[in-house]
Amino acid sequence: MAEAVIINDVGPRDGLQNQPRILAVAQRLALIRSLRDAGMQHIQVAAFVSPKAVPAMAGAAEIMAGLPADDAAYSVLVPNMKGYELALAAGARQVEMVVYGSDGMAQANVRMNRFEADAVAAAILDRAAADGLAVTITMSVAFECPFEGRVTPDRAMQSAARFLGAGAQEFIVADTIGAATPDRVRALAEALLAEHAAGQLGCHFHDTRALGLANVYAALDAGIRRFDASIGGLGGCPFAPGASGNVATEDVVMLLEQMGHATGINLAALMRASRLAATLTGNAPGGRARAWLDRQYPQPAETPHEI
Ligand code: COA
Ligand code: ZN
Repeated sequence: MAEAVIINDVGPRDGLQNQPRILAVAQRLALIRSLRDAGMQHIQVAAFVSPKAVPAMAGAAEIMAGLPADDAAYSVLVPNMKGYELALAAGARQVEMVVYGSDGMAQANVRMNRFEADAVAAAILDRAAADGLAVTITMSVAFECPFEGRVTPDRAMQSAARFLGAGAQEFIVADTIGAATPDRVRALAEALLAEHAAGQLGCHFHDTRALGLANVYAALDAGIRRFDASIGGLGGCPFAPGASGNVATEDVVMLLEQMGHATGINLAALMRASRLAATLTGNAPGGRARAWLDRQYPQPAETPHEI
């Protein structure tokens, strides 16, 4: 059996933040429960961001209060210290802070330059060490920025060294607009793995140019063992023009399981979660393997068909 791989489903956050249809807290919790039912151990459940900036993420504290009382790793995104304080107060144990490969993306997302965002991340790491919270640092637009073009790999290398050195639990490189290619992914993954343990690294891909799964494979082959993915291929950043959904969780699980990597995830149950995502949003593309997966795991006849 090949090594186990961790999948972190970011659908309830990255997947829902840009949806035209804003889901109620109960619907978002139902999606989270369906992911748990499929065996998903890592789920990003909410974002403590300004509800004016991202209306779909309002109610993060209610999401925290409604989570199943189990041992899954539920993380939340925080854009700034205020978000951190709110997440802490709501009982979060694991927070994700975003840093940036470019100033343009930092400005569009959080109205800071990238150095200001780095300083906030450093301050959050200090606070979290005292509060006993785990921090994931994700570098947005690690490969390409919609405003400034190509981002060189030294940005991710420097950021990983700085923040893992400062106590971050993990460092994730994110291809926020889905512009990375497998050769560049492999080169960056190899460079990061030469300096950091695989357990401290992860990748986050969007499927804008149909290269999400190829990029997962390139990173996997280099030795990365942790991936963000989004149920039903939902996703996209409201502040990154042209970004489409994340690589679909069901595609990533299918790829990994077929290659002999244990994910702990039940694909039949995951397809139920994918159908729920489609029903709730009316807008889930599903994975590239959707037709094949639907044939392997047909929908029970009594369930009304979605969309
Ligand atoms: N959670 C909730 N509210 C927040 C907040 C947070 N983390 N950070 C700031 N706010 C509120 C402030 O209290 C203030 O509210 P008010 O207008 O009622 O007084 C308002 O937002 C503006 O605060 P300010 O500090 O001036 O921030 P800003 O206007 O520069 O906005 C962010 C910056 C970070 C708040 C906002 O851009 C944001 O939340 N972005 C999130 C982006 C995101 O989620 N992107 C996708 C995921 S990567
Ligand atoms: Zn994303």
